[in-house]
Amino acid sequence: MRSFAGRDILSLKDFERDEYYRVFEACDELAPIAKTRRNVDMCKDKTLVCAFYQPSTRTRLATEAAMHRLGGHVTGFADPKMTRAGDFYQESIKDTVHMLEYYGDVIAMRHFQQGAPAEAASFSSVPVINCGDGWGEHPTQILTDLYTLRNELGRLDGIRMMCVGDMRMRTMHSIGYASTQFDITLDLVFPPDMGPTKEWEEFITRKGGRINKWKSVKECIDKSDCCIIEPVVQADYTKARQDSDAKKGLTPAEYKVTRELLAKKAKSGYVVLHSLPRMDELPMDVDDTRHARYWIEAFNGVVCRMALLALVLGKLE
Ligand code: CP
Repeated sequence: MRSFAGRDILSLKDFERDEYYRVFEACDELAPIAKTRRNVDMCKDKTLVCAFYQPSTRTRLATEAAMHRLGGHVTGFADPKMTRAGDFYQESIKDTVHMLEYYGDVIAMRHFQQGAPAEAASFSSVPVINCGDGWGEHPTQILTDLYTLRNELGRLDGIRMMCVGDMRMRTMHSIGYASTQFDITLDLVFPPDMGPTKEWEEFITRKGGRINKWKSVKECIDKSDCCIIEPVVQADYTKARQDSDAKKGLTPAEYKVTRELLAKKAKSGYVVLHSLPRMDELPMDVDDTRHARYWIEAFNGVVCRMALLALVLGKLE
């Protein structure tokens, strides 16, 4: 297995099966620290730099919380408008990263341009973690989700995963790439204008992955073991920021996972994940069903970022 020390985490396309399991092992080792709300001194000599060019609640704060749990230091920006990259100068990724690499030991970047974290990594002497790049990928979220599914279902091989929402989304791209390293069948449910790209489908089938396509949650939920849901009513991920307007649409019934459908059709141990934020595709009354695991998923988001930080900083081998 390749060492994680000093490595960028940019994509799940090149992640191998044993590397997923190494991350899960590191998660198991570090989870008790987060569970008991302790901060340790594992990374006391290290600093995380967050470079977030797009809004985030979970990814940035979970990554920062993870570094605090490991006893490290945190600096960075949550809004490029307060930096030279977001004002008159529109400072380039290259020049910005050449500064950030002197301010810390690992850079966590979210950007509205697909490929921006990879570009940053090409200039950086410290590891870069992709925290979501445009429509590209969201590797730390999907590592979190797979860790959650492994814990909740007891396995990843042999499962059927229903993926509901816009298949062009970065989370869906990362799920597809990851699925090829396990015996996972993907059951995709998406509106006609939000289908997967040809390149993505070809990559998955070339690697031996399996994809089925469905018109509605209703016709497929009973065949799957778990689901990952994303909104079909959502922001444009190629924009730095999009304010809410009054014209937001409602999610058609075909793409909603409801309490009624879960009660009537889902297997008894069915697991519902949603990386959040949600619109109306996952009504709040699902929260108190036995299927809801998205709060555990959120907690695991901290654990998984602890594991990734400890591994890329060489604190766990
Ligand atoms: N799931 C997720 O990426 O959430 P944020 O946009 O709040 O980071």
